[in-house]
Amino acid sequence: MSIIVNEHEKLFTLHTENTTYQFKADQHGILLHLYYGQKITNQNLEYLILPVDRGFSGNPYDAGDDRTYSLDTLPLEYPTEGVGDFRCPALSVLNSNGSKVADLRFCGYQKYAGKYMIEEQPALYDETGKTAETLMLHLKDALTGLEVTLLYGVFAERDIITRSVIVRNGGIDDTKILRIQSASIDFQYGEWEIIHFHGRHNMERIFERTPVPHGTTAYGSRRGTSSHQHNPFLILCGKNTSEFHGECFGMNLVYCGGFIARIERDQTDLVRLSMGLNDDGLSWKLSPGQTFHTPEVVLSFSSEGFSKLSHNYHAIYRNNLCRGKFKFNRKPIVINNWEATYFDFNSDKLIEIAKNAAELGIEMLVMDDGWFGERDNDKCSLGDWVVNTKKLPGGITPLVEAVNAFGVKFGIWVEPEMISENSDLYRAHPEWVLRVPGRKPVHSRSQLVLDLSREDVCDYIYSSMVSILDSANIEYVKWDMNRSISDCYTTTLPYDRQGEVMHRYVLGLYKLLERLTQRYTDVLFEGCSGGGGRFDPAMLYYHPLIWCSDNTDAIERLKIQYGTSFAYPVSVVSSHVSAVPNHQTGRVTSLYTRGVVAMSGNFGYELDTSVLSIAEKIKIRKQIQVFKEVQHIVHNGNYYRLSNPFEQRYVAWLMVLPDQSAALLSIVITQAEANAPHIHIKLAGLNRNVSYLIEKKQYSGEALMNAGYAIQCPTQDYYSTQLYISSDSESIL
Ligand code: GLA
Repeated sequence: MSIIVNEHEKLFTLHTENTTYQFKADQHGILLHLYYGQKITNQNLEYLILPVDRGFSGNPYDAGDDRTYSLDTLPLEYPTEGVGDFRCPALSVLNSNGSKVADLRFCGYQKYAGKYMIEEQPALYDETGKTAETLMLHLKDALTGLEVTLLYGVFAERDIITRSVIVRNGGIDDTKILRIQSASIDFQYGEWEIIHFHGRHNMERIFERTPVPHGTTAYGSRRGTSSHQHNPFLILCGKNTSEFHGECFGMNLVYCGGFIARIERDQTDLVRLSMGLNDDGLSWKLSPGQTFHTPEVVLSFSSEGFSKLSHNYHAIYRNNLCRGKFKFNRKPIVINNWEATYFDFNSDKLIEIAKNAAELGIEMLVMDDGWFGERDNDKCSLGDWVVNTKKLPGGITPLVEAVNAFGVKFGIWVEPEMISENSDLYRAHPEWVLRVPGRKPVHSRSQLVLDLSREDVCDYIYSSMVSILDSANIEYVKWDMNRSISDCYTTTLPYDRQGEVMHRYVLGLYKLLERLTQRYTDVLFEGCSGGGGRFDPAMLYYHPLIWCSDNTDAIERLKIQYGTSFAYPVSVVSSHVSAVPNHQTGRVTSLYTRGVVAMSGNFGYELDTSVLSIAEKIKIRKQIQVFKEVQHIVHNGNYYRLSNPFEQRYVAWLMVLPDQSAALLSIVITQAEANAPHIHIKLAGLNRNVSYLIEKKQYSGEALMNAGYAIQCPTQDYYSTQLYISSDSESIL
C-alpha cells in the first residue's frame, strides 16, 4: 500500500520505495504541504510547521483572531489566487462577477489501484493496474461551485509520483481559467539550487545550475512547443548535491506545448516550485458542468544524487511512457540523407546511398525533406504531400522496392503541422492557417502553421499521411516541426475563446498522433523539431525516438547529450555520425570519435555513403559491427555520467547492463593539454564482487569503483576511446 490515509487527522501519505510525500487538510479544510523527501515510515510531519505572525500576511476570516494562521506563510499543497497568499498561485480563475478568488476547501478523497489517465492526453500508464496507485483529492469553492480535483499517481517501486489537476465548473455561471499549474510544491526548509536545461536551435538542453534567489524566477516557453530554449524539466537540489551524493528533486511536464515553471523563494526562505502549461495568454472558458484536465508532471526524489534521479526517470519513461513495438525492441541503424544531399536528390541518388549503406551494414534509409510538391528549397510545398515525380520518377513505390532489394528498410520525412504559402493546400484553404484576420502572419522558415485546433485540418493531415504510408512499404516516419507558433488565432472560435487556441492546437496534435501511431503500429516514429525543439515526455508517448539536435558535431553533442541524459534515457535519443568538416561547426573529428559519441543513442549516419573512401568504408563497417554487439548495453543499460563537460577537459560516461555483467565506458578528450595529467575515472554501477575484463586485463568491480581506472591519453584534441567491460573472458571491441 503506497497511499496511506489517516481519516481522523485528514493526513495523506504517499510512500514509494525510498521516498515519502505528505500533506494534510487542516482544521479549515486548507491543504498544507508537509513533506517530500527521503522515506519516513510513520510520522505526522505537521510538527515542522511553526505558526508565527510575520506581519503583513493576511489571515483568513475563519481563522478569527489567530494572526499566526496565514496562507501567505504556510506551506500549501495547491495555492490559489485571492485568498491572502501573496506568493505565486497555481490556480487563477476569473469568476463571472470579475473577481479572481478561488477559495478551495477539502471535501473528500478517493483512492484506487492503478494509475489515472488523462483523456486524449499523454500520461504515464500502468498496464497491469498493479504497479501504481491513484489518489484523488477533492476541493471546492463553496460560493462559486468551482470543483478542483488533485490527482496523484504513485509508482512505488520506481520512486515516481505524478500529479495532475481536474477543474470542473460546478456552479451556474461561466468561469475562465487564467492560470492552471499541474503541481506546486512548497519546500519549507533547505538551501536550494536549481538546475534547468536551456539552449537554442543546434544547442539544446544545456545544463545550468544556480542558487535559488529571493523572489520569483520563471523558466518556460511561449513558443507553442516545449522548445529548444528551455526544457520542461527542473531539478531542485542541495548546495552540495553531486552525481552520487545529496538530495535532489525532479519535476518534468508531460506536455509538448508552451510551458511555465516558476520557482519562488519567499520572505522566510520557503521555496515554491510549480509547473504547468504556459498561462501567458491562457483564458479557458468553462461553462457550467464543463471540465478541464491539465497535463501531468512527473516528480521524483533521490537522496543519492543526480544519477539515481536520472535512473528513476529513465526507467519510468522506458517502461510506463513509451509505447508500442519499439519500446524495448532493437531499433534499426539508420542512414538519413539530409546532410548528404539537402534538397538536391532524386531516386538514383537515394538508391546509390542505400546500396552503399547496405554494404556497410546499415539497415534503414530515411528519405528526408524535399521529396514532395515542388520542394527544391524550404520556401514552398509544405502541405502538398504528393510525390515529386521529377525527383522520384514513378513515385515512391519503385524507390522503396529498389531500396528494399538491398535488404534496407525505407523511412520518410514529413512535417505535417506546417503549410507553405506557396502550396496548393494554401491556395485551396487559406483559412486553415493560424493567423489573425486582417493581419499579415509572422513567417518563420518561410512557413505558416496549420490550425490543428480544427478537426477538418487534422482530418486532412491524417488522410494525407495515410495515403503516403499506404502507398509503399514505409517502415519509419520522421515527424518534423520547424517553427515556433505565433498568430495564435482560429476563425472557428468566438473572441472569448481565443485564449484556448494554443492548448487546443496541442490537443489536436495529440489526437492526430494517436490515430496515426495506433494505425501504423509496425512503423517506427521519430519525433523532431529542428532537432530537439520538442524533446519532452509528451512526444515520447507517441514517438519512442527523438532526433536529439540538428547539431551533429561530436564535440558539441557531448554537452547536448549530457543535458538530455538527466531526464531522458539514451534509448529514446537518435544520434548520427555526420561528415567532416562538420556542417554546423566546421570542426574536424575522427570517424572513430564521431562513432563513440553517436553510439550513445540510436546509432545512425547522416552522410553520403556513395562518396566514402575505401578506408572510411572499412572503418564504418567495423563501427557498425561494434555497435551491433554493444547495442543491448546502450538500449538496456543504466547510464552514468562520469564527468561534467562544462568543468573538465574530457567527457566520460558509462552504460552498465542491469545485471552488471557488461558495461561500455566512453571517454572523449575535448581539450588537449601539453604534458597533461592522466585521466582517472571512478566507475559506477558495477558489481563490486565480480572480476571484469578490460582490454585483456582483469580488475575487480570494487577496484574499478573505489580506486578507479586510469588512462594515459595521447596529446591529441578529440581523442576518444570506448572500452568494453565484461565479466566474461571475451572482449568484443
Ligand atoms: C529540420 C530537421 C532536420 C531536417 C530538416 C529538413 O531542421 O531537424 O533534420 O529534417 O528539418 O528540412
